[in-house]
Amino acid sequence: KNIAIVYGGYSSEEVVSRKSVEGLLTFIDTARYNLYPVLITKTEWSAVLEGTHYPIDKNDFSFVRDGQKVTFDLAYITIHGTPGENGLLQGYFNLIGLPHSTCDVLTAAITFNKFTCNTYLKGFGVTVADSVMLRKGNSYDKFEIAEKTGLPCFVKPNAGGSSFGVSKVTTASDLDAAIQKAFTEGDEVIIEQYIKGTELTCGLYKTGGKHHVLPITEVVSKNDFFDYEAKYTANMADEITPARIPEEVADRIRTIVAIIYDILGCKGIVRIDFILSEGRIFLLEVNTTPGMTATSFIPQQIRAAGLDIKQVFTEVIEECML
Ligand code: DAL
Ligand code: MG
Repeated sequence: KNIAIVYGGYSSEEVVSRKSVEGLLTFIDTARYNLYPVLITKTEWSAVLEGTHYPIDKNDFSFVRDGQKVTFDLAYITIHGTPGENGLLQGYFNLIGLPHSTCDVLTAAITFNKFTCNTYLKGFGVTVADSVMLRKGNSYDKFEIAEKTGLPCFVKPNAGGSSFGVSKVTTASDLDAAIQKAFTEGDEVIIEQYIKGTELTCGLYKTGGKHHVLPITEVVSKNDFFDYEAKYTANMADEITPARIPEEVADRIRTIVAIIYDILGCKGIVRIDFILSEGRIFLLEVNTTPGMTATSFIPQQIRAAGLDIKQVFTEVIEECML
């Protein structure tokens, strides 16, 4: 079977995706599958083999090498951010009839919009921080926002990841600059209540109708929050698996992640982030295309569970091709 590992993307997270493809090339069993990295950027769609770029035919996502057409059985998407995590590529692959590794269009669109996802899941009883959403060009009152979210608060691009464009703001007068910064990543910004507590993240996947919930990781950032530097620089955060939390809380999180997975209709490997604050479990966000770099949470959690990483990916891939 031929698998395209689709990486790159149109957002700041392209740099992360370029590391995720490297991780996946080692996590997926090459004795079973032929792996082809396929780069998608604003300027090119190409299979990249030994440094040579072969243009992708967008009609069927094939390419030609040495006069021979190569087609795929699955697209394993590891583009974080647009167009890989927000439904655009999911729609494209659905249209051309190529199975892919992530959730469907609506799920991706909801989960890659923090405000929509929070609002949607709140309706199902999930605990989320208070937040305000702004669209570029619309007026706002920073004091009203600060009133609603309290201070400090987080200002984030509403559709983004890896903490690009994110600021922690402690005074209302700092909101304008933080909002402008977040708008450099997209046309919507979310301002969220700051929840003081323990940051936790939990990966899971579902095969054969059964959830496989991975061990929970606790994140202790050495920076003021788990920003881009802390996320991707060695030793800038302690990532402790399993998290040092009471078993009863871990059980609740394991139950919540499975419920959220099913409410949203997720597919493949997903990672859900939380803040545990005074016994309350606040949802931070659902990542349907989680980082797959060598040091990302998902491979850490698979190893901590004592599972064979290639076996896990084989199970997930086979499920996606059903
Ligand atoms: N957005 C990054 C890649 C993650 O959530 O893992
Ligand atoms: Mg994220």
